[in-house]
Amino acid sequence: MSDMPVREAVGARRARRALSSEAIREDELMAMLEAMRLSPSCNNNQPWNAIAVRGDEALASLKECLPRGNGWAKASPLIIAVCSRDDDDCLLSDRRDYHLFDCGLAVGEMMLAATGMGIIAHPIAGYDPLKAKEALSIPGEHILITLVVCGRPGSDSSMLSEKQLLAERERPARKPWRENFFADRWGSPLVADAESVDTGEN
Ligand SMILES: Cc1cc2nc3c(=O)[nH]c(=O)nc-3n(C[C@H](O)[C@H](O)[C@H](O)COP(=O)(O)O)c2cc1C
Repeated sequence: MSDMPVREAVGARRARRALSSEAIREDELMAMLEAMRLSPSCNNNQPWNAIAVRGDEALASLKECLPRGNGWAKASPLIIAVCSRDDDDCLLSDRRDYHLFDCGLAVGEMMLAATGMGIIAHPIAGYDPLKAKEALSIPGEHILITLVVCGRPGSDSSMLSEKQLLAERERPARKPWRENFFADRWGSPLVADAESVDTGEN
């Protein structure tokens, strides 16, 4: 496991798309999955199910579920499919159905663990969910929330669109702070703009 500090991993994590097809080692995969296992969840319900897809046949049939825009993912030697169902986690008042949230947390932890090992773990929503569920024998009541496309950084960017090429070089912009970070009440800006924020990084 890498000793990359968490804040460094947060900054280094990127949804890169130029992937090498070099295999991800067993110990690396297990470290990524262990990060998911240790993730917090409502009532410790652990609603996540993860299918590590790396066998030639299984990978090939899963890759058939990708649209052209996600053609870059075809180079990946490992795709982790994450699914859950609402009954397997807290269902609380005011639509607080926690299974998607808890799976998101677990995937977040896994992405940071991957980043620490120099592995790109890129979650996608662009796939045919019913076809992918069938390919992976996922029960119908489960939601296939994401496919996490994994791989080491690669040099072949021929599959990438202009926009994707730009995103390889520069992190896509975030909304201005004032749009979605508030102080004391909804709508009250926490900071006026990004330039005035000192995160202590420099
Ligand atoms: C739920 C989710 C779905 C995504 N779906 C796709 C996708 O289908 N294809 C893709 O290329 N990137 C996908 N992404 C990656 C985002 O585009 C990327 O995280 C965002 O542009 C910010 O870039 P960064 O992660 O490098 O900071 C997805 C990310 C998330 C969290």
